[in-house]
Parts: sequence; structure tokens; C-alpha cells
Amino acid sequence: MIAEPFQKYRAFPVIDLPDRHWPGRTLTQAPIWCSVDLRDGNQALAVPMNVSQKLEMFDALVKCGFKEIEVGFPSASNTEFAFNRRLIEEKRIPEDVTIQVLVQAREDLIERTIESLMGARRVIIHLYNSTSPAQRRVVFGKSKEEIIGIARQGAQMIKDRLSRLEDTGTEVMLQYSPESFSATELEFAKEISEAVMDVWQPTPERKMILNLPDTVEVAMPNVHADQIEWMCRNIKNRESLVVSLHTHNDRGTGVAATELGLLAGADRVEGTLFGNGERTGNLDIVTVAMNCYMHGISPQLDFSNINHLAEMYHRTTGMTVPPRQPYAGELVFTAFSGSHQDAIKKGLAERAAGTAPEHWDVPYLTIDPSDLGREYREVIRVNSQSGKGGVAWMLESEFGIDLPKDLQREFGPLANDAVDRLGREVSGTELKDMFWHEYVDRRLPWELKHFHADGVDGVFECRASVLLGGAELRITGRGNGPIAAFAAALGQTEAPPFEVIDFKQHALGAGAAASAIAYVQIKSANGQKRWGAGVDTNIELAPVKAVLSALNRLG
Ligand code: KIV
Ligand code: ZN
Repeated sequence: MIAEPFQKYRAFPVIDLPDRHWPGRTLTQAPIWCSVDLRDGNQALAVPMNVSQKLEMFDALVKCGFKEIEVGFPSASNTEFAFNRRLIEEKRIPEDVTIQVLVQAREDLIERTIESLMGARRVIIHLYNSTSPAQRRVVFGKSKEEIIGIARQGAQMIKDRLSRLEDTGTEVMLQYSPESFSATELEFAKEISEAVMDVWQPTPERKMILNLPDTVEVAMPNVHADQIEWMCRNIKNRESLVVSLHTHNDRGTGVAATELGLLAGADRVEGTLFGNGERTGNLDIVTVAMNCYMHGISPQLDFSNINHLAEMYHRTTGMTVPPRQPYAGELVFTAFSGSHQDAIKKGLAERAAGTAPEHWDVPYLTIDPSDLGREYREVIRVNSQSGKGGVAWMLESEFGIDLPKDLQREFGPLANDAVDRLGREVSGTELKDMFWHEYVDRRLPWELKHFHADGVDGVFECRASVLLGGAELRITGRGNGPIAAFAAALGQTEAPPFEVIDFKQHALGAGAAASAIAYVQIKSANGQKRWGAGVDTNIELAPVKAVLSALNRLG
């Protein structure tokens, strides 16, 4: 990098729009969406999709609820042409879905494009030519007038061929893009767009789409919003236009540019699933749609099974969804940090108890992951950053092990140390194994062989046999319950003196295979406190085993 970047680069000039309206507005409804996955997204792949992959993607887009889908550039290759023909001839396009095709302002390409659309019910023909100073100078070597001439001629060539489609029952909508709009002088963008409008003559009843591409993001999103508001306010016959956005993501602000562009007056948004597209990609429609949703606006798109959609995306494009991708990434609803886990756990418990406010307000979770088909079990995952709350959540949500709060405080740091030593994330099963190793399978030096207790009038007598370092001892004792009787029996052995100070028990699993898990806390004569845990199909034996587990842990 150079020390004085201003010598090589300069800021994008601000737009003169002092009375801009967009900063004070809020979004109240979803825009018209157009997926360009099968065209712009496909164009950006090292290995473009074949026809069957495009068909799978098309069906998935329809299932999400897209009503406008740019299906390709049919004059660009045989695959693209064949795909269009299959969609139309196999009648795969639902009644309420319009396919869109892209074409440059060249007669042979327009001819082929029209051929590819014959027999379709409803189509959008999308004409573009590039308009920015760099494109005019470097690529075309043409003046502004000549560039307008290209657009005008392209528009005319399409208009001249419309009857071929319309006479055979196809409804046609026309779309024009001054490609590289965001780097184009606004007055010129207006002039060239109006030249196309003069040819196509849109009306409020029969609008055309004016797509204003942020082909390469060169400015901050507020500048993009100013450009869109300027166009919406200055272009003639605004009421005859559907103003459309097409943002790319070169500065990483494609979503912001789109949202501000909508505030600035646009009606429609082109983009792709998960932001596939040239260079840093197109706008990620999932993010903008879900941002609407989290503000209570129906996006008119359904992403209820986002994981499934991401798999389809991977299968058809070979691309992957990054783990931190908003809404769809593997980790976006996951908390590893102890304080986050604790807050999420409490927030979800508040909702489960029915005491939460009406509107979603769970710390760290912008939306309910289950709305996207994401599971709560992926919300809290455990690594060395995690605390007792995360450990307890996992044991409870995966295995129904409901540790008493104080035992969570004892086991949390033990588990945390073990995970720290491993230096990686651990699964629920591994955590359970750690708990079993530390508590349930703690059989030395004391182990239970046999236990029986009878009670009369609240006085219990027990007979038990225990192993102490492998040697069997037969013991008896009395107390106001089986646990107290067992503690009394142990009191007559060489076990260190202790008292039982806490106890909890619950079922593990359901039905005939259910067992019980008991948690017992003891306090030794010198004030040491330890928890123990025991598991048995017999609910009387589980707490007795838990007493020995605690005793074995006294150390
Ligand atoms: O990015 C772009 O400008 C395009 C146009 C063809 C609309 O993809
Ligand atoms: Zn594009």
C-alpha cells in the first residue's frame, strides 16, 4: 500500500441534494424482488451451472416465492438458450412467475433472445449498455451521444420485434439498465434513460422497469441513496417507471446501499441468494428480506428452511455460505461466550415461561432461529470461552439432564478446564461423558453393591452392602428417609463424617427405558461441600449412588 493514498485515489463526489428525504423515512413494505442468481450469479461462477442445475435452482427460487427471475442471457450460449426453451416447453414456469432475460443492444443478440422467449406467458426483456465515463472512454471509445445512440437503437430493435411475442400471447415488460449507473454523471444517466423511455413510451398502466445498477460499488451507501432519490425526483414520467436497484458489494455495503436506496424511492430489488455474483458478489437478497422480517415487515419470500436452501446453493453453484453470513451462516445464531450463553438461556426461558414481552426481545438473538428452521440446539455451543450456563444448557437440551444451580457452579469450571485442555469445541455427548466421568462413574473408593430400606411411621431402616477399595462391608442405619438412613449407616464406617445438605432427582428419558438421575450435595465435618450424582433405573438407588459419588469426590 502507498503512504499517501490521496495521490492515487479520491473520494466519490457528494450529490447536491440538500433537501434529501430518504434519511427521515422508514421501510414499511417489501420491494418487488427479482432474483438474478441464474444470470448474474451464474456468470460469476468458475464453472457455470448446467441446465439441470439451473432447473433445480429455478424451482428452489420459485419455492421461496420469487415472482420475477432473471433466468439468463439466452443469446450468450447454447446452454442459456436451451434452458429458456426447457422452462417454456416443459411448462415449468408457474402462472404468477415472470422470467427475465438480459440482452445487449445488438440486433443478432436481440433476435436470438426473442426466439428463446417464444411461447412464454409473461417475460421481462432487459436491455443494458454501459454509461460511466470509464466505460465510455476505455471500453467503447465513444461520446455520450454515441452511447445514447446505442441505447436508443437497442430499444428500437426490441420494440420492432415485440409484436412477434405479443401476437402469440406473451405479455412483455421492458427493462433498461444504464450499466455502471452509480459511476455515471446523474444528468447523463437521466438523459440516456429518458432516451430509452422515448422509444418505449411507458405509461402508468404499462410501466417499464428502470434498473439503476451499482455495478461496481464506488461510494458510501448514503451517496447511492442520494443518486436514487435524485433520479426518482428528476426523471420524467416517474409514475410510468418501476425503479429498480441492482447493487454489487465491492465495498461490502451492498445491503446498506439497497436499504437506503429503497428509502430513497426505489420499488424493486435485484440480487441473489447469499450474495453470489461477480467479484464480491451481488446483493444478498436473503439478508435484506430477513432484515425486513426482523422489523415486522413481511418479506413476501419464504426462507423457512434456510439450511436446505444453502445446501441447494452449494450443490448447484459449488459456492458455500460463509459461517458468519447474516441469517444463513452456520454460526450466526451460536453463542460460545459464557455471558452471551447465559443471557440467551435466560431470554429463551422467559419466553418459555410466557413472561416475555409480546415482541421478540431475546438478548443476542435478532430473530427466533426456529423461524428459519434453525434449531435451538445450535444456539449454544461449548468451547473454552463458554461458561456454566452453556454447559448446563447443552446437558439439559440434549439429554434432559437438569443440573441444580449450585451443581452447575461446581461442574461448569471443571468442564471448562477440560475443554480448555482439549483446545477445541466439544459436543453434547463429550460433555455428558465428562459429567459421567466426574460424578456418575465415580466408584472409588466407595461403591454400592446392594441397598434396601423399609420405613414405618417416617422412620427408615436400611441394610446395604458397599465396597471400600474392593472389600465388602455390610452396614445398617436409621433415619427419617432412605438417604438419611444410608448416611447414618456410613457414619459407622471409616467414611469421613458428613451431612447431606441438598438433594434433587428427576427422570432421564421416558417410558420403560427411563431411569432416574439423583444429585446429592454433602458437607464434611471440616466444611467441604461436594456434589455427587447417581443414575439407576430404580429411583431409590439413584440417590444412594449419588451419596457415594459425593463421598468419593470429597478427596
Ligand atoms: O451489474 C450490472 O450492472 C449488471 C447489469 C447487466 C444490470 O449486472
Ligand atoms: Zn450485476
